[in-house]
Amino acid sequence: VHKAIAIAIDGPAAAGKSTVSKMVANELSFIYIDTGAMYRALTCKALRENIPLEDEQKLSGLLTDTDIELEQGTDQQHVLVDGEDVTQAIRSENVTNHVSYIAEHAAVRREMVKRQQQLARKRGVVMDGRDIGTHVIPDAEVKIFLKASVEERAKRRYDENSQKGFSADLETLKQEIEQRDKIDSRRAIAPLIKADDAIELDTTDLSIDEVAASILSEAEKALVDKGEP
Ligand code: CDP
Ligand code: CDP
Repeated sequence: VHKAIAIAIDGPAAAGKSTVSKMVANELSFIYIDTGAMYRALTCKALRENIPLEDEQKLSGLLTDTDIELEQGTDQQHVLVDGEDVTQAIRSENVTNHVSYIAEHAAVRREMVKRQQQLARKRGVVMDGRDIGTHVIPDAEVKIFLKASVEERAKRRYDENSQKGFSADLETLKQEIEQRDKIDSRRAIAPLIKADDAIELDTTDLSIDEVAASILSEAEKALVDKGEP
């Protein structure tokens, strides 16, 4: 039932993609796929193995030899690299500040997109990232582009960090977010950009519930169009 569509959610760092994607997936009993976690997982392994960030060939070879799994636990989604749970490790500042350089490489993206398309082939999926509506699922029935001011996004990360007891200051977080957005938006292959047919939502002054409700209403419409009311 109700599983005929794919929902693609893109946007810059801390726009609220993963929080809202999880809620929407839960509500519809869809699976949720965090593609950023896959790039983070590769980055985590590359850093551990001291592979230079600019070595496209070594990095794509590493990816070929790396098993990345997204597993739905009872509490949260777990990320497994070659069977090891790296759910916490991939959120470290070190990974966050290096992931965009690894995600720039054509050979890395080719393999990631292939894996992501495989995961999305059955529909009934909410997938978030930077190039989902443009490259991974260009025929997604619902495409959303989330944005918010960089001040608001830095504040969201800051609040998240304070809850976890981390201490990066607001200005540093803002600069890191701006730097990552710049690399993601300017890269040659599949840059961060709104798909022509995506609905843009500025979440700066919206609550999480409001954003989720608005995506759910688009999903309901798409399901009706598919004859699945
Ligand atoms: O959650 P946050 O916005 O901090 O980032 P993420 O979604 O975990 O993605 C981390 C990084 O992976 C991004 O900054 C991009 O460099 C890369 N990425 C990508 O290139 N394409 C995607 N579909 C998803 C992530
Ligand atoms: O996945 P992405 O990097 O786009 O964002 P996220 O990891 O979901 O982080 C967004 C943070 O902002 C979370 O702590 C949310 O609770 C908060 N937030 C939001 O997602 N949406 C709003 N409209 C307001 C706050």
